[in-house]
Amino acid sequence: MTDLPFADYQQPSKPAAGPRLAIVGEAPGAEEARQGKPFVGRSGQLLDETLKAAGVDRAESLVANVFRYQPPGNKVAHFFASRTRAKKEGRAIDERWGPFGTSDWVLAEFSGEIEHLQRTLEAYAPRVIVALGRTPLWALTGQNGIMQLRGTVQPCRLLPGVDVVPTFHPSYILRGQLAEQPTFLADLKLAASLLGA
Ligand code: URA
Repeated sequence: MTDLPFADYQQPSKPAAGPRLAIVGEAPGAEEARQGKPFVGRSGQLLDETLKAAGVDRAESLVANVFRYQPPGNKVAHFFASRTRAKKEGRAIDERWGPFGTSDWVLAEFSGEIEHLQRTLEAYAPRVIVALGRTPLWALTGQNGIMQLRGTVQPCRLLPGVDVVPTFHPSYILRGQLAEQPTFLADLKLAASLLGA
């Protein structure tokens, strides 16, 4: 399908005995593509530290990305296009998944990634899913507006009955928004608390 660098999901090394947590990001970066695993670079370090502070053991959780391919320049826009651009470039968009942002749609050549994520989530059967940033928020819930929706509990469209807690992507915090770290921690604590609910 594509020759972009690839990093698969990370299945838990010791799956939680009780209700399970899944954590979903956007797409691998360079280090993730090199190691073949999600969130093993700088964003992963911040994620791991904050999960630990929230009382979550990453080794018990599924860690995944919406897209398993590293996009050029780490820009998720690579997977999307407006109707106009898609037409101009002779590419198909898959409108079944709804708009991403104000005018973009997932390109048909990449929309199988969402179905793949859905099958993986079905098999893992989490009780709660953390959406790290706007891409997983859209893929998991069909909604846009991470700044308005972070810290809330939203229904998962891929897995009915499962709660999604949207929060910041750790790379957003690393790109100069260190003041948001306590909010990121609070969101992860909220997700952890729902596991026991
Ligand atoms: N950013 C993501 O969204 N996923 C990763 O695995 C790494 C960085």
